[in-house]
Amino acid sequence: MTRMPERWYQHAVIYCIDVETFQDSNGDGVGDLRGLTSRLDYLYRLGISTIWLNPIHPTPNRDDGYDVSDYYGIDPRLGSLGDFVELIHQCDNRGIRVMIDLVVNHTSDQHPWFQSARQSEDSPYRDWYVWSPTEPPHADEGIVFPGYQRGTWSYDEVAELWYHHRFYKFQPDLNWNNPEVREEIGLVVAFWLQMGVSGFRMDGAPFVIEEVHPDTADRIMHYEWLNDLHDHMTWRRGDAVVLAEANVPKDQILEFFGPRADRLPMMFNFAENQQVFLALARETAVPVQTAIQASPEIPSGASWATFLRNHDEIDLSGLRDSERADVFAKFGPEKEMQLYDRGIRRRLATMLGGDQRRIRLAYVLQFSLPGTPVIRYGEEIGMGEDLSLPQRDSIRTPMQWADAPQGGFSTAAETVRPVIAKGEFGYPTVNAREQEQDPDSLLRWFYNVLPVLRQCPEFGSGTCSVLDTRDDRVLALRYDCPTGSVLAALNLSTEKATVNLAPQPGITDGFPIDVLSDQEYPPADDLTKVELDGSGYRWLRLTRTVGA
Ligand code: NOJ
Repeated sequence: MTRMPERWYQHAVIYCIDVETFQDSNGDGVGDLRGLTSRLDYLYRLGISTIWLNPIHPTPNRDDGYDVSDYYGIDPRLGSLGDFVELIHQCDNRGIRVMIDLVVNHTSDQHPWFQSARQSEDSPYRDWYVWSPTEPPHADEGIVFPGYQRGTWSYDEVAELWYHHRFYKFQPDLNWNNPEVREEIGLVVAFWLQMGVSGFRMDGAPFVIEEVHPDTADRIMHYEWLNDLHDHMTWRRGDAVVLAEANVPKDQILEFFGPRADRLPMMFNFAENQQVFLALARETAVPVQTAIQASPEIPSGASWATFLRNHDEIDLSGLRDSERADVFAKFGPEKEMQLYDRGIRRRLATMLGGDQRRIRLAYVLQFSLPGTPVIRYGEEIGMGEDLSLPQRDSIRTPMQWADAPQGGFSTAAETVRPVIAKGEFGYPTVNAREQEQDPDSLLRWFYNVLPVLRQCPEFGSGTCSVLDTRDDRVLALRYDCPTGSVLAALNLSTEKATVNLAPQPGITDGFPIDVLSDQEYPPADDLTKVELDGSGYRWLRLTRTVGA
């Protein structure tokens, strides 16, 4: 029997939303759940299948919600639990799934657990955090935010102890070695599954499972905790999934997925993301070809998640110095565009100079890679950044809905972050309403491409082979899966190219059909001469299984 891929997340298109900057419904300048619910038809038209919400819980908001002070609630600025359930209901009506961020490596220092833990050694929460009586010898190592974080251990005046924090000082790490902590997180996960979410994006997954001791920089990794979490989740909801932020070295990837995709079934492909930017900067397919070929075979049921931009800086720390220098030179040449000595704090459209052909090529490249695409809100209209905002806030500005006050985001005079109002990427020029009317817009292009992508499930879950095009500028991939076989050919350079993609073993009948291309090309019935314009792309269907 021929079937679609079994797991929903392998043929999903995930759209990431920061609720506070998406749509304000009550005029207080902060986006909220009701605002988001009012925009679901837009998301439906766009063709995404799943939304992932950045943290929605009560928070002092010193790290855009990644400092949680109550896992069982909704930040009152965003709405109520009732609003959340209504959102889920309205998503259900449209066949859209919802995932939320699971930020359980650390809490906010304002979380009642930490407040209690620091007060007394008799607190039931004392051992929920990681303490040291003296300053640990490696206290200045393992920093995630260089320039903005002094170390990974800080002294707490109240407890008169040092506590561990992988991220900012106000984010004390939970002690996962304590079974009570793991049990409580099990309750948190069960609570939100019961509320109707389909899964979680797990923040800082490798840090969650490391056992930290003050006297050594060595860490013991507890992969079995991920198995327990996975078992628990899937027992409560069979098809629930964790999409993990786990930027780990190649030799640990399979450990994180788990032998049967039974730890973290989905992981963002950070290594490949950097190679994509290198390929775009150098106008060559080689870095992407090498990244795909070097990627280990992942277990059945596991999936990569691909992305171009997310809510953080692009992390280029995995590139060689000369490679990083090339990407910086092309896409983030000014010091203020760079962050943490390793990344770029810009959106894609600005990095590519607003060049529509390059922007579209970049997305087709993302969608052609193995895995499930994740798109961040605003990318579909080509939003830019505001470099006057600190650190990663530059790329977290409100959604630009229309050429209306505050870009249609809010009726308030002042908004949670300023809406980009001026210049080539300001809301009078870049906004969803005008792009919906314009057949040549980026948004309308997305309207066209996402359904085609969803009609080609081979891209998400087929077996991928890198084809030898004998032309470094052109990336050609073939995917085979029970539903059929597809080819993707992309010209990473800005000059015309013609490549030979013949023969295609196992394809005996019918002609290849162009299902997507940047322009009309002569029919691809002769695969020895596949033409591509500069920055051109083509998806060719080789076979389709009847009834698939
Ligand atoms: C990773 C998140 O993506 C980032 O935005 C956040 O600051 C850190 N984890 C800490 O939670």
